[in-house]
Amino acid sequence: MSAPNSDYDPVEVTPLRADEVERMRDEALAAIAAADSIEALKQVKIEHVGDRSPLALANREIGALPPQARKEAGQRVGQARGAVSQALARRTDEVEAQEFERRLAAEAVDVTLPTDREPVGARHPLTTIQDHVSDIFVAMGWEIGEGPEVEAEWLNFDALNLGPDHPARTMMDTFWVTPESAAMVLRTHTSPVQARTMLTRTPPIYIACPGRVFRTDEPDATHAPVFHQVEGLAIDEGLSMAHLKGTLDHLARAIYGADITTRFRPSYFPFTEPSAEVDLLCYVCHNDPAHVADCPTCRGEGWVEWGGCGVVNPRVLIACGVDPERYSGFAFGMGLDRTITSRYDIADLRDLWDGDIRFTEPFGIGL
Ligand code: DAH
Repeated sequence: MSAPNSDYDPVEVTPLRADEVERMRDEALAAIAAADSIEALKQVKIEHVGDRSPLALANREIGALPPQARKEAGQRVGQARGAVSQALARRTDEVEAQEFERRLAAEAVDVTLPTDREPVGARHPLTTIQDHVSDIFVAMGWEIGEGPEVEAEWLNFDALNLGPDHPARTMMDTFWVTPESAAMVLRTHTSPVQARTMLTRTPPIYIACPGRVFRTDEPDATHAPVFHQVEGLAIDEGLSMAHLKGTLDHLARAIYGADITTRFRPSYFPFTEPSAEVDLLCYVCHNDPAHVADCPTCRGEGWVEWGGCGVVNPRVLIACGVDPERYSGFAFGMGLDRTITSRYDIADLRDLWDGDIRFTEPFGIGL
């Protein structure tokens, strides 16, 4: 600010001269007109309207004028500042409207575009195989059962002759549901559906149950913490291991073709006695001596592991309210994930649950 004075003419104070105020105003108006974005207008505001703009600085000089000269200088600067503020407000409205229009145009949805570009999904092979297996059982007159995935500890273990101290109980790496006092687990197998069925139904019972099971396995190419099994249970008068073998042979043929059969190997499960591991005749080399040695599917074995089975242990029948003197039965549990990975030569189990549509697409709608 210039030093206070009382004698000189306002036109001598350069920033207050009429032509100078006009020049500052016109410069500001030109800058406003040229600004074509909100960002640019912000900058113009700082330069031409803000505290350090030429017109604001000129305004401060008015105080330094002699009183008689202040009015005229004040009007001149005031009008110029008013014109600039108005122009800025108008231009801001304009630019905002333009930007809004631009955004609307950019984000416009063309509702006339063809809609067939949506990729068509495919059924997951695990869904398909569960349906397929269910169909095979229904065709034999069996029913399809279901049970909850969060299961009572008693049904998952105790009812199946896996008491609290049974060593096999710790072999199934179990997800416990909190609080522990609730005694609930994520079912480690589909076998609790056996117990549920026997507890609520009277024999004869012929039931199959495909479903999801859980174990605390680290995921890798051959393990997953979530996988799928199909459980089977038949309770009737006079059932034996021979009926079990016939049923599994039929299931194997229905899935893998007429020339596939099964083989039993002695094994142990607390819920069956006797128990067996079931192998499938290798559906690639058919255990043909000419090819078996180089077969990548069975790795030279001629047989592929499929699941567990056996004659239902009378202790399980008693725990579930079935009279072992009158009834007997058989049960089995097969892994479905491996059924798919081996059948379709899928090297990594994780492909099954990655959720990539490109994986499921080739399976199409049927199996
Ligand atoms: N529950 C067994 C498992 O997950 C499989 C199994 C074996 C089921 C024998 C059965 C059976 O019904 O009888 O390893």
